[in-house]
Amino acid sequence: MMLDESTPECDACPLDRRGFLGQAFFAILAASGMSSVTATAALALEGSEATYSIPARDGVEIDKKGEVILVRDKGVVYAFALSCPHQKQSLRWKEAQGRFECPKHRSKYQPNGSFIAGRATRAMDRHPIRREGDIVRVDLTLKVRRDEEPERWESEQVRVG
Ligand code: FES
Repeated sequence: MMLDESTPECDACPLDRRGFLGQAFFAILAASGMSSVTATAALALEGSEATYSIPARDGVEIDKKGEVILVRDKGVVYAFALSCPHQKQSLRWKEAQGRFECPKHRSKYQPNGSFIAGRATRAMDRHPIRREGDIVRVDLTLKVRRDEEPERWESEQVRVG
């Protein structure tokens, strides 16, 4: 059946055309193993701690309010500070390149936060993270720097898959 602009909305249909296309897009991403970037919000934001649902698949979630980037990459979940370690610009996920990039001076980072190139001189800062059932708890008061605490930086991750 051809669907054109004159096709009336169906009250019985659970999705309009935009919703259907959106779901189809994410289904294709999931099937291809590609990651996606979505906006997210903490389930709870209690003072120094934010809780998030464990992402169901690999991808990038950005919580602007909490200033946290939640990444699931190859079954491992990380919580990063949203700001670039160079001059605090908000980092962005570059879907086509599969990496983070700073819009200010173009520093580049791997999905696990490792530094690739640019003016920044260290990896993305990680927040302490721990799993509790189907959620992860993220300590917002602390940013672990790889150049200062490399072993702790490596350990701030949760394997979920
Ligand atoms: S602020 Fe990000 S590289 Fe300078």
